[in-house]
Amino acid sequence: MENEKKDVLILAIESSCDETAASVVKNGRTILSNIISSQIDLHKLYGGVVPEIASRKHIEKINQVIEEALKEANVTLDDLDAIGVTYGPGLVGALLVGVAEAKAISFAKNLPLVGVHHIEGHISANYIEHPDLEPPFLCLVVSGGHTHLVVVKDYGEFEILGRTRDDAAGEAFDKVARAIGLGYPGGPKIDKLSGEGNAFAFDFPKAKVADAPYDFSFSGVKSAVLNHLNKCKMQGEDILAADVAASFQRCVVEVLVEHAIAAAKDYKISKLAIAGGVASNHGLRTAMEKACQENEIEFYRPSPIFCTDNAAMIGVAAYYEYLKGTRHDMDLNAVPNLRLGER
Ligand code: KG4
Ligand code: ZN
Repeated sequence: MENEKKDVLILAIESSCDETAASVVKNGRTILSNIISSQIDLHKLYGGVVPEIASRKHIEKINQVIEEALKEANVTLDDLDAIGVTYGPGLVGALLVGVAEAKAISFAKNLPLVGVHHIEGHISANYIEHPDLEPPFLCLVVSGGHTHLVVVKDYGEFEILGRTRDDAAGEAFDKVARAIGLGYPGGPKIDKLSGEGNAFAFDFPKAKVADAPYDFSFSGVKSAVLNHLNKCKMQGEDILAADVAASFQRCVVEVLVEHAIAAAKDYKISKLAIAGGVASNHGLRTAMEKACQENEIEFYRPSPIFCTDNAAMIGVAAYYEYLKGTRHDMDLNAVPNLRLGER
């Protein structure tokens, strides 16, 4: 039919940290493909992400990942309506690989280029499996680099209520995991080990930031765990790793849940979503769901595969930016410290 609405197909690229990812997204909410090439095994050898190695690996993988994403979606570059790409925040060299690739495809195929904020992507992951979810809602973003409590006022419009003053939640998980000897990335390992431990074995401190009820601070709990481990070593006591992991996780989860629920109540927001790598944490998912039920708040969370870095979430965010008319030129650059809501 002539005036039938045409589908909007977006190829999205994500390379801000240690995952090279590409995805084809239809009309902002249907994921036709979601290809992720993880570099975790490589960086594990060094105990964390090595930026230079990450950039090189992205260059090696990006074309293959894009080809796979197109193939799985059963489309070609000629079927696309736009290219979406993460241009910040993240590691500058890593971001540049995705940005250069997206610009090349956009130029060669004369396709609109839409630069996406990585955290807007994480938040947008919630739209994938919740067709009913629309702004406004509250979102707790917890990743390796960010801990934000955000009011999503509209698509691409944010008000940040709180943020971390020091370590991000994921960073605290990674540092504590390293101290216990679990290796990188620590979050999933602490999560797993917590299942075998007593979460009430230790009472680690839950920091509050004076006059900023929605801000977070995780350096105190991290130091308390490190001090505990040192004390055990010095006194020749066994380290109860599972109990330490479970108690640490409980402490972080309680703070995240308390702050998010308080903000939802204070701002009278009845929908609460979580996003980012730490949103795949079993303890957080269970505790937040329970707290939301008790407070009659609708709870939304992406499946774990859409919580950690992926390009599908970038495609979703790119779609809503595309609808709003956001377009970038060939001078689009990587912005390692891009702020949420900035263009
Ligand atoms: O969102 P993400 O993949 O990358 C960033 O944008 O930072 O988040 C990665 C972070 C890492 O710190 C990782 O340890 C943490 O998310 N993480 C978890 C879990 N899975 C990933 N933290 C706690 N529990 C998990 N299951
Ligand atoms: Zn991320």
